[in-house]
Amino acid sequence: MSIPLRKEEEIIKLREACKLAADVLVMIEPYVKAGVSTGELDRICHDYMVKVQKVIPACLNYHGFPKSTCISINEVVCHGIPSEDKLLKEGDILNIDVTVIKDGYYGDNSKMYIVGDTNIRSRKLCEAAQEALYIGLRAVKPGIRLNEIGKVVQKYTEAQGFSVVREYCGHGIGTEFHCEPQVLHYYADDGGVILKPGMVFTIEPMINAGRKEVRLMGDGWTVKTKDRSHSAQYEHQLVVTENGCEVMTIREEEEKAGRISRIMVNV
Ligand code: MF3
Ligand code: CO
Ligand code: CO
Repeated sequence: MSIPLRKEEEIIKLREACKLAADVLVMIEPYVKAGVSTGELDRICHDYMVKVQKVIPACLNYHGFPKSTCISINEVVCHGIPSEDKLLKEGDILNIDVTVIKDGYYGDNSKMYIVGDTNIRSRKLCEAAQEALYIGLRAVKPGIRLNEIGKVVQKYTEAQGFSVVREYCGHGIGTEFHCEPQVLHYYADDGGVILKPGMVFTIEPMINAGRKEVRLMGDGWTVKTKDRSHSAQYEHQLVVTENGCEVMTIREEEEKAGRISRIMVNV
């Protein structure tokens, strides 16, 4: 099957969607505090997307998902369902994953938040998940095989003493939420497609403090680590360019930090 190569007009649309998705992650940050429920955080994001941004929250009703964001705390790996009963407490680490649809084009991203202060190991886990994503972004350029990304992400993550979740991966995205290619965050000797300018996909490594195995909970969505160790994830959406990639969901804070840039020249 083929992976669409996006033309400039489509890239402009995707850039807009991605900017809006990134803005939600920035907007919600001051609300992430001990005592707030994940249901409330979801409601604030929902209202901002629908009323202020006038976009569609892509997660809402996606294969029956009941909320507008995924919020995954501590041992929850991904797809945590926001709830009024789930109150944040000091030391929690959480991922908020936001996807918007703007004029039919999708923007998907996520980041970690720390409630107050947490222990060194959890901080290191969050930091490693971000660096794992960045290492993936620094590898992207035309001509390489897609499985190069998984190779470098896995190598870094395991060198930090953490493990890479296998069951969930990055994905092609554009006028659909999830399409080809599947972007594994570990190495698989699967041939791997050759990257070409105009391909749009996410990189979103989930990394665990303990073992890599995960369990799906009875609600059919929430994924936890099997050993109940903590898990962290960061996600960006990118388009492959002539000499690297453009990080379409980059936030200002990241441009300032200087570890990645919107336009990554990876030659
Ligand atoms: N945003 C997630 C991703 O990065 C997908 C969430 S699907 C949902 O691919 F249904 F759980 F919302
Ligand atoms: Co995604
Ligand atoms: Co996402």
